[in-house]
Amino acid sequence: MIYLDYNATTPIDPQVAEAMIPYIYESFGNPSSSHQLGQTAKNAVEHARGQIARLLGCSREEILFTSGGSESNNMAIKGTAYTLRQKGDHIITSTIEHPAVLTPCKHLEKQGYSISYLPVDENGIIQISELEKAMTDRTILVTVMLANNETGTIQPIQEISRICRKHGVLLHTDASQAVGKIPVLVDELGVDLLTVAGHKLYAPKGIGALYIRKGVNVEPLIHGAGHESGRRAGTENVIFDVALGKACEIAGEHLKDHTLKELTDYFYSGLKSIFHDQIHLNGDPVNKLPNTLNISFLGHNGSDVLDMLGKDIAASTGSACHSGLISVSPVLNAMGTPHETARGAVRFSLGRMTTKEEINTVLERFALFHKRQKGEVL
Ligand SMILES: Cc1ncc(COP(=O)(O)O)c(C=O)c1O
Repeated sequence: MIYLDYNATTPIDPQVAEAMIPYIYESFGNPSSSHQLGQTAKNAVEHARGQIARLLGCSREEILFTSGGSESNNMAIKGTAYTLRQKGDHIITSTIEHPAVLTPCKHLEKQGYSISYLPVDENGIIQISELEKAMTDRTILVTVMLANNETGTIQPIQEISRICRKHGVLLHTDASQAVGKIPVLVDELGVDLLTVAGHKLYAPKGIGALYIRKGVNVEPLIHGAGHESGRRAGTENVIFDVALGKACEIAGEHLKDHTLKELTDYFYSGLKSIFHDQIHLNGDPVNKLPNTLNISFLGHNGSDVLDMLGKDIAASTGSACHSGLISVSPVLNAMGTPHETARGAVRFSLGRMTTKEEINTVLERFALFHKRQKGEVL
């Protein structure tokens, strides 16, 4: 299997798996227990919290463990909305967010909050002038993703932050796709809340974190005992907390390594030399994740391209066929990508385990596909 779908999920890094083992077998205590097994587990959770904090450049107390990107986004958005209800009821987001942001916003709309959806340009970048215009004296939160899961386009969060600071409005960013792929430092970005999803950076599925800047109050979504400083009830998932900590430590070690970007660029130039102007790169060609290529194969449907590649190559398409009608990705739609282009989109997302040999195999398949198209081979 050639796996080029790392934005969907990553395998668990072997070093991460190894770090989990002692907490499966020996150190299984409840971190709330005062005996030695409990304290060992507690120390492990706090060590992991520190590893995440180091990667994000914040303090340990500002990291809350969650069950993943969806929960972190829900907590950031609904938690601040409920806390700040007296102050205001208006939230600003964008049209290209993941459903884990859009759906909590829709939920709040039903509860009487009003939501503004910022448009993006043809590269998928938020129009900053629209943000200024959308701000009102009832605005309490801006939530804009750091990097898009489909196109890899990176948003100008620092600029967005300057506007939020000017208006005294909190800023959340869904960094599920960015953490581990590019440097993500909360102070440099100027965010108040930031989402981490473990399974996008070689930790297991079902673990994540939310950075909450000191002094920001977020209403808990899960009530119970006083875990996580009273912000999220439930006995800590020690094994997965340890895994996320280790995954963040390893991610930090890889941040200066440009191999993945070089491999992604190599793949793109290989595709260009086969297809020339019959492919289109979706998203911003410069401000993008180093591992993501969202390519439209003009004149084709994305799903047909994937079928042609073969079942042993894993990538994904944002388009889908329902009763003979092709529906295209809402993200490409929001970018104003013509339907004819959007229907041919395929997302390739490379990762730490991707090899040049694998990319060469995929390029060979594409070269054959192209020759067949031109009728040069049967
Ligand atoms: C940008 C983004 N946000 C949030 C999520 C949801 O994360 P999780 O699957 O950990 O709930 C994903 C996962 O696909 C994502 O890509």
